[in-house]
Amino acid sequence: MGNLTLDDAALKQLVDAFYARVRADEVLGPIFNPAIGDWGEHLEKLTAFWSSVMLSSGRYKGQPVPAHLKHRDHMNPANFDRWLGLWCEVTGELMQPDVAAQLQAKAERIAESLQLATSFRMPP
Ligand code: HEM
Repeated sequence: MGNLTLDDAALKQLVDAFYARVRADEVLGPIFNPAIGDWGEHLEKLTAFWSSVMLSSGRYKGQPVPAHLKHRDHMNPANFDRWLGLWCEVTGELMQPDVAAQLQAKAERIAESLQLATSFRMPP
């Protein structure tokens, strides 16, 4: 059980730890490693994303749906479950339990909407 409270420094630590685990994962690593050119930039972007989601900071200016559409072949329920499994582990290890639960619930809702948004096919 972790003890970090919700602030930008904790979110940076969380995002770094989460993507370290993603990169080492046998299923998700081979998806992310070739897709991300600059990991420093990705980690900053994802810290800004979570800061916007959890702290309403407005730091993230991006469009998650088009970003994931580029990788739609990998956007399947098994991969989302794996992503969420790692997110649960790392949030649980680092964050206070109530904060971990909030982060997990948010990620589940965002994952659902990303799965929906990337599952439509244009008619031929
Ligand atoms: C970006 C994969 C789930 C949030 C990316 C990128 C990849 C990726 C490859 C880089 C996109 C690029 O080429 O520019 C995946 C996979 C997932 C997953 C395989 C699960 C199957 C999620 C979830 C969230 C999330 C659940 C949020 C809770 C983001 C954000 C970006 C991103 C914010 C940055 C988008 C931007 O460029 O502004 N993801 N992702 N992803 N992902 Fe995911």
